[in-house]
This record gives sequence, structure tokens and C-alpha cells, in this order.
Amino acid sequence: MKKINKVIWLTGLSGAGKSTLAQYLHQELIEQNVQACIIDGDDLRDKYKDLGFSNKDREIQIDRAIRLSIEKLDEGFFVIVALISPFSKMRELARKTIGHQKFIEVYLSTPLNICEDRDIKGLYKKARMGLIKNMTGIDSTYEAPENSEITIDTSHEPPKQAAIKILNFLKNNEIN
Ligand code: ADX
Repeated sequence: MKKINKVIWLTGLSGAGKSTLAQYLHQELIEQNVQACIIDGDDLRDKYKDLGFSNKDREIQIDRAIRLSIEKLDEGFFVIVALISPFSKMRELARKTIGHQKFIEVYLSTPLNICEDRDIKGLYKKARMGLIKNMTGIDSTYEAPENSEITIDTSHEPPKQAAIKILNFLKNNEIN
């Protein structure tokens, strides 16, 4: 098993395709014999069941993902994080805490209208109807990254192609 000490941090709106891309990437890495794991926002929330979507709760969620990433890095995993992580300041905290050399931010820039059209979980519809509050992109803010290492619009790049783009980045930066 190859050990690569990196965190790929996928950020973007709900429905942008973070989890799907994380799974493709994970699969590719496993096939390349790299020890890899996924930290997914939904899974993390499911595990603890104590957080909602206020700004404060999202900060706690991101903080948890940072800590867990570091634990997994220490265990020798290549970590893939899939988290809306809407606040620049928290993503910067992630970069700083995990370490600049180990942190690769990937911004899924898929526009809101596309994510809303997909509406895989029906959350946008509910948010538009006022049935749920604090929906990212509707009545909760998403601060788009300005200095991501990689930007991918999944309405133009399917997940497999997006995963290859990330793997090529790793290769070109002599990471893999
Ligand atoms: S974060 O903002 O705290 O980083 P996180 O990635 O953990 O978000 O969770 C996002 C997931 O929660 C989405 O994929 C979606 O399925 C679900 N979700 C439920 N309610 C909301 C909401 N109000 N805003 C965003 N996502 C929501």
C-alpha cells in the first residue's frame, strides 16, 4: 500500500457532486494501491446527530472534519473531505491547521441553478417553499473560494473526468 500524506478538500454547494466525486477519486486511489478514506459531511452529521445548519453548527462541523482529517493523516491515509464548508475563514483554518503542503482545495463551482435543477434530495424545493431554513445558496451564505488549487464545474465535467483532473494535478505536482 502506498501512503500519501494529503488532504483533498472538496467544497461547493449541495448537489454540486462532492460525494460522487469523492467516491470516484477514492476508487481510483484504491486501484492505485493508495490507502485512502472519505470524510463526508452527511456521514459525519449522521454519526453525531447533534448539528443543524446555523453558522455556528457549520463551524463545529468543519472543525470536526479538520480534526478527523488530521487523525486519518496520522494513520497514513490519503484523506478526501466532501463538505459544503461555506466559510472562507473556516477553509483557511483547515489549510493552516492541516498544513499548507498537505492541503489541496478543490472548488466544485457548479452554479446554483444547476444544483437546484438536480435537486437530488429535494432540499432546494423545500427551501424555496420555506419548509426548511438556512439552505446554502438560498438563505444561507456560500463564500466561493478564490484561491483553490483546482476548480471544477460538474455541469461540464462528469465525475470520472473530474477525478482524473485531480489525479493529474497530483501527478504534475509530483505527489503521486
Ligand atoms: S456544512 O455547511 O456544514 O459544511 P455539510 O457538508 O456538513 O455542510 O452538510 C451538507 C449536507 O446536509 C447536504 O449534502 C444536504 O444533504 C444536507 N442538508 C440538509 N439541510 C441543509 C441545509 N439547510 N443547507 C445545506 N445542506 C443541508
